[in-house]
Amino acid sequence: MNLSIIILAAGQGTRMRSGLPKVLHPLAGRPLLGHVIETARGFAGAELHVVIGHGAEQVRAAFPETDIHWVIQDQQLGTGHAVAQVLPGIADDRVVVVMYGDVPLIRRATLDALLADAARDKVCLLTAELDQPTGYGRIMRDETGHITGIVEEKDASDSQRRIREINTGFMAAPAGRLHGWVAALDNNNAQGEFYLTDVIALAVRDGVTVSAVTTQDPHEILGVNDRLQLAGLERCYQRQQAEACMHAGITLIDPARFDLRGTLLAGQDVVIDVNAVLEGDLVLGDRVTIGPNVVLRDTRIGNDVTVLANCVIEEATIGSGVRIGPFARIRPETRLADHTHVGNFVEIKKSDIGAGSKINHLSYVGDTSMGRGVNIGAGTITCNYDGASKHRTVIGNDVFIGSDTQLVAPVEVRDGATIGAGSTITRDAPAGELTLSRAPQETRKGWQRPVKKKS
Ligand code: UD1
Ligand code: MG
Repeated sequence: MNLSIIILAAGQGTRMRSGLPKVLHPLAGRPLLGHVIETARGFAGAELHVVIGHGAEQVRAAFPETDIHWVIQDQQLGTGHAVAQVLPGIADDRVVVVMYGDVPLIRRATLDALLADAARDKVCLLTAELDQPTGYGRIMRDETGHITGIVEEKDASDSQRRIREINTGFMAAPAGRLHGWVAALDNNNAQGEFYLTDVIALAVRDGVTVSAVTTQDPHEILGVNDRLQLAGLERCYQRQQAEACMHAGITLIDPARFDLRGTLLAGQDVVIDVNAVLEGDLVLGDRVTIGPNVVLRDTRIGNDVTVLANCVIEEATIGSGVRIGPFARIRPETRLADHTHVGNFVEIKKSDIGAGSKINHLSYVGDTSMGRGVNIGAGTITCNYDGASKHRTVIGNDVFIGSDTQLVAPVEVRDGATIGAGSTITRDAPAGELTLSRAPQETRKGWQRPVKKKS
């Protein structure tokens, strides 16, 4: 099918009370409009037109991809006017689908159902039956049940307002027909706007069948007008994701306290405790346990890994049999090999930590290559920054670094070396030897503590 998708996203979103255009507000870490564009992109080969107005440059800049045809609507004179800005560029033989940039959860299957009719030279509307239809356009039908038109809330009579079948705004129609109907729209209505919905009465006038697909899932048609609705949709979306994760075999201790802002691929018997925030692309192996209040972003984790409470791990690659936390911070470009241990209040940045090495307490390791079987004592700091540049620390295999040591980079501690506690290491430490820098300890025999003089 020659499909042309028009996404309306020019509105201001006044009720968001925000400097950010409404369609750029994030849902699960991605702009509302991004969700809609992704769904639209699912139709391979479809033309993608997005109508923007308020904050147009900001919106356009948020989507640098070249498959989007941006159309500016300078003044927001209504949904019909918005579609009219795009139509001249759409050939007669195409099928047009109208979507809204602020309705992010629309499902592919629903759009497919909508399209099936439009392909047969019909107009198809997505409708829903709501207990609280206030604010929506209502679907008018004749005695035989055929659709005759849509009346907007503000133009509706009392009896029309009692209709519970509403217009969701999603519509599919043949472009060849739409050209004439949209050109014929006027703004003689309560809001003085060019309503796209008036196209329906014109279709009926021209003898074109108007059909409806009625969704049973009220969430997929919900739009975002204010921050309450945004938060409501976020919870709804997270619930869907949590259910998908559980169906895929992941244990979520509390699906209501689970936030996935990206994609998660997990092996068998993964357990995720409460308040985990998972961002970007994540891959977890078998039997991974994520403790409470953990933030994970763009990270790959092997099998049998335990991440204890309150860790933040970003852009890291973690092997198997690793234990991290509680309270550890693993920063970008860190690789932890198999069976490493990283304990509480440890920060690691841009470093390779070799298999079986342990950094268990209160340390900073940055710009470091560390070999196998290393033990880093509590309070060890790699001094990687001289105020101007970053320098590397190289630590060999089977090294033992005593507690409270500073390794002033660039510096190398060779295989099997031992560094005495409390040392400041500024030159390379040779393999297999004990190196330490420490003021000699002295005891002053008979020394007395000062006492306060009595006045
Ligand atoms: C519209 C429908 C109504 C439907 C409701 C569903 C019309 C006339 N009415 O009403 O039947 O029940 O959606 O939510 O179509 N937009 C533009 N340019 C404009 C005007 C709007 O791009 O000039 C965009 C908005 O940014 C928004 C969408 O179109 O994404 C809908 O506009 P909105 O003003 O919310 O329409 P409603 O009055 O809610
Ligand atoms: Mg609206």
